[in-house]
Amino acid sequence: MKTVILIGAQGHMGQAAMTGLKKHNVITASRSGTGCDHTVDITSKASIKALFEKVGPFDAVVNTVGYCEYANFSEMTDEQWDTTIQSKMVGQINLVNVGLNYINDGGSFTLISGILNVKPIPVAIADATTSGAIDTFVQCVAHELPRQVRINVVNPTVLEEAWDVYGEMMPGFQPVPGALVGKAFERSVDGFITGKVIFVDA
Ligand SMILES: NC(=O)c1ccc[n+]([C@@H]2O[C@H](COP(=O)([O-])OP(=O)(O)OC[C@H]3O[C@@H](n4cnc5c(N)ncnc54)[C@H](OP(=O)(O)O)[C@@H]3O)[C@@H](O)[C@H]2O)c1
Repeated sequence: MKTVILIGAQGHMGQAAMTGLKKHNVITASRSGTGCDHTVDITSKASIKALFEKVGPFDAVVNTVGYCEYANFSEMTDEQWDTTIQSKMVGQINLVNVGLNYINDGGSFTLISGILNVKPIPVAIADATTSGAIDTFVQCVAHELPRQVRINVVNPTVLEEAWDVYGEMMPGFQPVPGALVGKAFERSVDGFITGKVIFVDA
């Protein structure tokens, strides 16, 4: 059994990840902390550090947070770009940057991206761009991680459980059950792979 910190646990993707982490000691966190063990704001390095200090030793971080703004490219404001970049890109990179000071030898990070960087749709340019950045970050930084620490990213298509939120903007996409995406998180945490983009598509 590993000690796993799951961030964004009450969200759609967090609940999907949870299905793949059942055999572990899962410590949950989110910005509001509602229904979770801890609060954390992944856009603040100080908040990330405080979380790891509070939790103590752990074997894995699974992050399912990456807030995105949606608009056509011509209508995206600087603020919308910045909000998305600070959450889905910089926030996730900082989780690894800060987390490396705390994670156990042989531990793992699992980040979140999303299928829209390889299957683009209108209004999702910021989500797609930051998802692509995280896929690249993971594939490259894996070569630099010390102490047998691993890193992967789960790149899923839309969840069945979130189809009511995203379905209208994703005609022609086939949603997948959260439990299937949970398997991808399980493979990342319990396997030996590193530097991989784990696609879950229908
Ligand atoms: N849903 C899908 O079908 C799907 C498919 C592919 C990829 N993704 C990606 O998965 C990620 C999560 O999507 P979702 O559908 O699970 O969203 P969601 O249901 O809205 O859940 C978001 C979660 O993130 C937490 N959160 C938001 N900002 C935070 C911050 N700054 N620090 C810490 N926690 C924060 C929220 O916590 P509080 O409620 O406490 O604020 C909540 O638990 C997104 O990047 C999305 O692009 C989603």
